[in-house]
Amino acid sequence: MITAERLTKNYGKVRGLDQVSFSIPPAQVTVLIGPSGGGKSTLLRCLNGLELFDEGSLRIGEYEVTVGQGRSQGGLARLRREVGMVFQSFNLFPHLTVEANVELAPRIARGLTEAESTALAHDLLGKVGLSERRDHYPHQLSGGQQQRAAIARALAMAPQVMLYDEPTSALDSALTGELLQIMRRLAEDGMTQVVVTHDISFARELADEVLVLIEGRVVESGPPEEIFTAPRDQRTREFLRRYLS
Ligand SMILES: Nc1ncnc2c1ncn2[C@@H]1O[C@H](COP(=O)(O)OP(=O)(O)OP(=O)(O)O)[C@@H](O)[C@H]1O
Ligand SMILES: [Mg+2]
Repeated sequence: MITAERLTKNYGKVRGLDQVSFSIPPAQVTVLIGPSGGGKSTLLRCLNGLELFDEGSLRIGEYEVTVGQGRSQGGLARLRREVGMVFQSFNLFPHLTVEANVELAPRIARGLTEAESTALAHDLLGKVGLSERRDHYPHQLSGGQQQRAAIARALAMAPQVMLYDEPTSALDSALTGELLQIMRRLAEDGMTQVVVTHDISFARELADEVLVLIEGRVVESGPPEEIFTAPRDQRTREFLRRYLS
């Protein structure tokens, strides 16, 4: 579903991503871990076309973006439509109700009628357990509810891939459990998901595969049992040792 080849992103002299390559099959949940500044958020922004990488190529489903010798090919706008993103700060529109937040993009960008987009919003808000709250404004919701509204809003574009940047950072353990359920159900429905998290137990429970990103490079990848209990790379061991101590 996602194939990245030698993705490189520079910020002046800082190398955000350094020749990152990986491939992710459909319906897989991939967890990105690594130290602060390792490039996790940069990679998510490149995956959903918020940021253009400097070198390399990226294929999501049937859409491909290639950059080389200062030229880019393929459509970033198209990529953004195929990839939904749930930001750490949710970024809901504060002046719109939950339902209006979810309806807006499909009406404008997918051309759904009012009746269609309302039915879609009802369905998606039901899926994330927010049916009762659809007439509330974001400031009237808890952090966990805002996050679920943000998930419903991203799903409303019918993306092929969903990205999440540190989705558990504002959640207590009960809400983290609810999020886990929602993401597992999406995976069962075939959604391909990429998640950045600092929460190792969440990662262990959710991940099909873990990518370890250090200094802009994927230093190791594998199933969670392997990465968290018997990492092969010295840099992964060092990161986990510091992190878990
Ligand atoms: N817009 C930017 N301008 C300049 N440098 C940037 C920019 N965005 C990221 N960087 C740099 O790129 C590197 C990777 O940053 P990134 O935000 O991807 O790290 P991260 O792994 O998400 O870290 P954290 O766990 O702290 O969120 C860092 O050195 C960062 O300072
Ligand atoms: Mg980050």
